Amino acid sequence: MSSLAVKHNAINLGQGFPDFHMNEALIDLVNKAMKDGHNQYVHMNGLLALRESIKDKIAFLYQKNVDPETEITITPGGTYAIYTALTSVLRPGDEVIVFEPAYDSYVPNIEINGAKPVLLPLTYPGYKIDWDMVKENINPSTRMIMINSPHNPTGSVLDKNDMEQLSNIVAGTNILILSDEVYEHIIFDGIQHESILKYPELFKRSFISFSFGKVYNCTGWKIGYCIAPPNLMTEFRKVHQFNCFSCNSPVQFALAEFLKEKKVYMELGKSLQTKRDYFELLMQKTKFKSIPSHGSYFQLYNYSAISNENENDFAIRILKEAGVATIPVSAFYQNKKEDKVLRFCFSKKESTLNEAVERLKKFYS
Ligand SMILES: Cc1ncc(COP(=O)(O)O)c(C=O)c1O
Repeated sequence: MSSLAVKHNAINLGQGFPDFHMNEALIDLVNKAMKDGHNQYVHMNGLLALRESIKDKIAFLYQKNVDPETEITITPGGTYAIYTALTSVLRPGDEVIVFEPAYDSYVPNIEINGAKPVLLPLTYPGYKIDWDMVKENINPSTRMIMINSPHNPTGSVLDKNDMEQLSNIVAGTNILILSDEVYEHIIFDGIQHESILKYPELFKRSFISFSFGKVYNCTGWKIGYCIAPPNLMTEFRKVHQFNCFSCNSPVQFALAEFLKEKKVYMELGKSLQTKRDYFELLMQKTKFKSIPSHGSYFQLYNYSAISNENENDFAIRILKEAGVATIPVSAFYQNKKEDKVLRFCFSKKESTLNEAVERLKKFYS
């Protein structure tokens, strides 16, 4: 869709990236780190000062003590953390429960390890986990359950009840958890993020992936981290050592300092919520019907009042006809499930959102 967007000069609300400037102070810190000579490899597990800052942030947010020596590894982005976690524990024949629609790397990352994704649909239109269905799909081959909250592509979030259900299901088993929390701060409507880090019994069996790209509006920097208990982190690092080994140094020096500014990440949710609300107000002048989003960069819209076309055809049509790129949600299902829903990224400048909706209004209001 991004390539088509370029070809047709469309506004790209498909791919999830901000089109506004990132924080200048963080850019300055990276510049300073480079000028100060921090341009060589840092420790394989990540710059210790950054791991210490992450530890402090986690203590502040989730009242949890993690050990920077044994439980935190800096990675080149969240996707890499997910791939490395899966590769460090999956063996051929293992089953991994994945909820769909799902971020596009999960299934290929499972399959490349010879393991089998067990694909369970989230309920429509609330995009909730059907925990009875999860129970029915647990068997001796179940090695892992993957969760993602706030969720891409739907913006749904897991609540305390979900975490209790998950705890009950895995209790007394060897099932591991991968919790993708890259949108931990992009959560709206006063809802608290239910991190695995708040649940000691769950943490014992979990890998958790995070992304600085999402926190600081710099998705192109590709820097993140994984947190896991020591026994799992030891396995993770065996894969990491011979793959990435050491991540970008000056960026780590800068982040170690910048992470101390709590205000920046604490205000992220509020600023993205303003964008979500602004976009929705504009979209109310069209025939697209929103499906509530409580987090992430994304808002889903149902278009059944406009067209009967399948999601892919309709997404291509509005890209060519109106000049607005979106992503069909069917692309996040292996079986291309159809609900007549498109994903829009609202993490954009007001002027971009204005122009996109002006274009949509011409054809679909
Ligand atoms: C759910 C989810 N997980 C992980 C990532 C990856 O983050 P990164 O760019 O740091 O690899 C993304 C990015 O879009 C995402 O949406």
